[in-house]
Amino acid sequence: MIVTIDGVAASGKSSVSSGVARALGVPYVSSGLLYRAATLLGLEAGLELQNAPGLLAYLQIHPLRLEPLAGGNRIWQGERELTGELHSTRVDAGVSVVAALPEVRAWVDAQLRALPSPFVAEGRDMGTNVFPHAGAKFYLTASPHVRAQRRAQERPEDVPAIEAALIRRDALDRVQSAPAPDAVVIDTGPLTLDGVIQTILAQLPE
Ligand code: C5P
Repeated sequence: MIVTIDGVAASGKSSVSSGVARALGVPYVSSGLLYRAATLLGLEAGLELQNAPGLLAYLQIHPLRLEPLAGGNRIWQGERELTGELHSTRVDAGVSVVAALPEVRAWVDAQLRALPSPFVAEGRDMGTNVFPHAGAKFYLTASPHVRAQRRAQERPEDVPAIEAALIRRDALDRVQSAPAPDAVVIDTGPLTLDGVIQTILAQLPE
């Protein structure tokens, strides 16, 4: 079975997906890492981020490999691990431009659909576009302020700057971020990480 966990930026999707996947004994798949890695490579290659043909040609020559582990996803370009470089402010600022390119979305979707199930898939459009027949779908939300406070513990920036960047990214990602009509929407604001994980586990079909 495939479980999808979508949601807005910094809503806790990765940590929640990892916890749910570990409880189920399956891997989780971070679609955002593929968009982030494509963005990093485009920036490093000096490409215009709107240049879909250039970006795809580059990705074909330098393919990416996503390693979907339950404890945390890793992503590689050949022998080089990119994982640690993908949550920078620079990648955050460019990733929505890359993710808006239909050609890049098709490239990510094909990689995700080729993965063997069962798994937990995490992103924006896992329950709508990529795995519409998933066995269970969830959508995480929280106010921008709560999300910025959480992210401030991971980034060397202050809460107002992070909050402004999150609001900007939410707006840019709005098209692909609508919840699936059959997704259970969870406001993670008042919940602990474990509280969100338990809420999801309690609603999974037998
Ligand atoms: O989930 P995360 O915040 O790491 O995703 C980074 C970016 O990748 C998002 O801001 C969005 O632009 C894009 N994304 C997407 N569709 C997904 C996952 C991520 O458009 N399924």
